[in-house]
Amino acid sequence: MARSALLNVMVQAALKAGKSLARDFGEVQNLQVSVKGPSDFVSQADFRAERIVREELLKARPTYGFLGEESEEVIGTDGAHRWIVDPLDGTTNFLHGIPQFAVSIALERNGEIVAGVIFNPATDELFVAERGGGAFLNDRRIRTAARRVLSDAVIGCGVPHLGRGHHGKFLVELRHVMGEVAGVRRFGAAALDLAYVAAGRLDGFWETDLMPWDMAAGLVLIREAGGFASDIKGGNDIFISGTVAAGNEHIHKALVEVVNRPIPKA
Ligand code: IPD
Ligand code: CA
Ligand code: CA
Repeated sequence: MARSALLNVMVQAALKAGKSLARDFGEVQNLQVSVKGPSDFVSQADFRAERIVREELLKARPTYGFLGEESEEVIGTDGAHRWIVDPLDGTTNFLHGIPQFAVSIALERNGEIVAGVIFNPATDELFVAERGGGAFLNDRRIRTAARRVLSDAVIGCGVPHLGRGHHGKFLVELRHVMGEVAGVRRFGAAALDLAYVAAGRLDGFWETDLMPWDMAAGLVLIREAGGFASDIKGGNDIFISGTVAAGNEHIHKALVEVVNRPIPKA
């Protein structure tokens, strides 16, 4: 696949940060961990990875803005472009030695995500997409799965935990979804979950209480893989609402309907 200069910059930044994360993952027991909130851990690895990504991206495009999870937002002098970065998505997995985590880098242009890179250094899987150029996993074209009905579908989700999210609301959503599908999965790294939808591993995915850096790169991957992504109500307010629902045209539509079913009367 031919990559644009910008996508190359993103890939190089993701690979470099991924190398640092892979090294730290090997020594995960020795990491110094600080507590950010209940069950929300931030490791030194996380900060190191963000520093690497930030340096690489701002070196290549000094005028662009930068929104990263672990540092102050940089407002660029170029008002049109902004990097959106999660240096380590799947922190809880990382700290528990579970190899399901990733660096996620997206480029926003005039409010639209135009390129995305998601790299899991533990599996050496590099997902990339650029608007109009298709989506790829390690240079092989990927597409969303072709299954059309929920009864055949495996659906990913996020599960709220101590101090995070609406537990009761999630249980209602899950109750409705689990009654309709072939399987439900919770892998623990939203960026990778979205990349898995793009690659056809998951037929669909929904989650609430997410941040732009959890979703940005995954959105362009899914769309370039032929899929659909919206907020959980089926609208365009993904970042504002912090929610996402994704899948191919059929699964996306069905999933939005099911997760929004009203709470059954007792
Ligand atoms: C988290 C992961 C997780 C999702 C959480 C996110 P982090 O990101 O994406 O899958 O359920 O809501 O906050 O904290 O590991 O970067
Ligand atoms: Ca994240
Ligand atoms: Ca993170």
